Amino acid sequence: MPNQAIKILIADSEGTTCDRICSFLTGDPTYQVVGRAVNADECMSLALIKRPDVILVHNGLKPTSGIEVCEQLALQNLDAATLLVVAQAMDENLFRRMMAANVSELLVAPLQKNRTMDAIRNAFDKKASQRHGGATASSEESRRIIAVTGARGGCGRTMVAVNLSCAIARAAERISPGGNNVVLADINVRAGDAATFLDIRPQRTLADITVSASGVDREMIESLLENHASGVTLLSASTPEPYGRQELTRGIIVSALAVLRSRFKYTLVDVGVTGTEVSNVTLDFCDTILMVVGMDLARLRAARLYMAHLLEANFPREKIQVVLNDIQPESKSISTAQAESILEATVAVRVPNEGRLVPASINLGQPFVLTHPSSPVSQAINDLAARLGVDIGKGSSFKGLFKRLHWGETNGWSAAAPSAYAVPHKGSS
Ligand SMILES: Nc1ncnc2c1ncn2[C@@H]1O[C@H](COP(=O)(O)OP(=O)(O)OP(=O)(O)O)[C@@H](O)[C@H]1O
Ligand SMILES: [Mg+2]
Repeated sequence: MPNQAIKILIADSEGTTCDRICSFLTGDPTYQVVGRAVNADECMSLALIKRPDVILVHNGLKPTSGIEVCEQLALQNLDAATLLVVAQAMDENLFRRMMAANVSELLVAPLQKNRTMDAIRNAFDKKASQRHGGATASSEESRRIIAVTGARGGCGRTMVAVNLSCAIARAAERISPGGNNVVLADINVRAGDAATFLDIRPQRTLADITVSASGVDREMIESLLENHASGVTLLSASTPEPYGRQELTRGIIVSALAVLRSRFKYTLVDVGVTGTEVSNVTLDFCDTILMVVGMDLARLRAARLYMAHLLEANFPREKIQVVLNDIQPESKSISTAQAESILEATVAVRVPNEGRLVPASINLGQPFVLTHPSSPVSQAINDLAARLGVDIGKGSSFKGLFKRLHWGETNGWSAAAPSAYAVPHKGSS
């Protein structure tokens, strides 16, 4: 018997199958229905957000048939078993498609209680044994999506997202060298600048994707990934022609995050603008929300309202971690205790102001955690990584790279210094 209930998602446009399954499961703590979807889109989103163990899909789902949804689910590489419910015995073609989509079992409606419960249990057990036997799936549960957000612009969200990604990548590289450890997704189409902070010029970004009827697939997302020498992989959404561009759609962002989560241990998302459909679904999807608060009174008050809004929207308080950022030297005049009392929340980390180092690192596209690992601002970012459960250890595996840099711990940098971290972008000589 599993320690936790088996999480079940049911997709059924009519609702009758769903009601029937729910009636079988009522009162049995071994099972928990975590979502009911009435169409394909809803099924895909709930599958990605709720992360069920077992998904039961009725083949009569509208407007996209159940088997097509199973095929789409298979593309997302989710850690869930799928069961297909049909109204009558299947034909050969359906059987072939079922096998290709890795559907665990077929159930014929009207469903029988014992048969249905056995099928759910078997599918769950089979998936669990694959997970324990598989080399890659063992890390599935430790994968994390961390959304970096903030109530106002200019509070240091990108600075935190970029440097935290590099700090985690450096630590993770020691434990799992060469692994797909960290990806940074910048989902701000209009003003995303994570690529600039890393001195990368992406050739294509999420903004170039047009969604086909079958959604966004893994290859499409993977073709947009850019590697940085720090070990961080970047997925950018920014575009050279941001004005007049559509924002990303919910479908694109959900698919992108699912692909990233299935491939990388840590996915950090620079959320950028808040209050959009895309930012909301990202916050739903993530495991941790880092709320960066620029330290002045106006920003603290805006952050307090944002925090209240998130709590009202039922985000668990423990999912939200507050990062205070001293954006100006004067920020010091507000104490951490005062900030906590305004925010009505405890603070995870406070990032000090470093008025030369931080802007210089942005201008050069060289994250300060790599170039100046012992500076107070880097230590704050490392503390944040540790707060998130990352074993950041001592020392650095990037010593060779530091030597190549043209600016040292004394900030004797030159604006003309070439980037030691940027990997030449595709097609450059
Ligand atoms: N701790 C700090 N010390 C010194 N300067 C800082 C610090 N944090 C941020 N800054 C400065 O604040 C500016 C804004 O930072 P950043 O771009 O990371 O904010 P943002 O919230 O991502 O803004 P945007 O709304 O443009 O997305 C940068 O120019 C950076 O140099
Ligand atoms: Mg930003």
